[in-house]
Amino acid sequence: MARRMLIAGNWKMNGLRQDLGFLDEIADLAYSRADLDISISPPATLLNQAVKMAGAVKIGAQDCHIRRSGAHTGDISADMIKDAGADLVIVGHSERRDDHGETCEQVRAKAEAAQAAGLLPVICVGELEADRREGRAESVVGQQIATSCPASGDYVIAYEPVWAIGTGLTASLDDIGGMHAFIRASLRKGETIRILYGGSVKPNNAEEILALDDVDGALIGGASLKVADFAAIITAAPIRIARSR
Ligand code: PGA
Repeated sequence: MARRMLIAGNWKMNGLRQDLGFLDEIADLAYSRADLDISISPPATLLNQAVKMAGAVKIGAQDCHIRRSGAHTGDISADMIKDAGADLVIVGHSERRDDHGETCEQVRAKAEAAQAAGLLPVICVGELEADRREGRAESVVGQQIATSCPASGDYVIAYEPVWAIGTGLTASLDDIGGMHAFIRASLRKGETIRILYGGSVKPNNAEEILALDDVDGALIGGASLKVADFAAIITAAPIRIARSR
């Protein structure tokens, strides 16, 4: 069976109720591309309303706490996200690792909490610019994978070189292909795990990135805020058939 592509939008700290009309157009496109999974992760304030408008589009959160409930002011749990009707949650995004000092061990606990709640965790990893320049991109990402991913169950990895996020810079196709093959080889059930690329994916580069063998979709920030751009990226995704799983 082919790994289903996942085209995942991450709105980050953007989006008000008035912006949810976006979902109507993407939901139409999702019906015509039933071969793909398409998701949007709006801010938590919009989760419940987004679920009602999403149709075949999956709705995700952008983070969850490691615990199910308790005295953790300002946080939301995976159970709450599931209760809002969402399907997935992004964990370990580099902006959270940076802004909130999240460690790989915490990211793994969040991914496990998501699995326990019945959500699909999308686990972000990626090297800094200096890591790549100094030749240690693979060892950094390998270490992140080893310590951020649950031992079993389904999850998605998003490889996002930190220097490519929101900068307009993307890794070269060789570097993306090489890193995705490296990640797949380092996973115990590598053939079944979806590996997304993220970092300045735009309509003008999506087709060539998504055509790479080990790229199973994309995690998209800036371009997921504009319906025409996000739709163009969905349209650029190849139709996958007959790949062994
Ligand atoms: P970008 O963000 O597409 O704006 O680079 C990607 C991400 O942070 O997931």
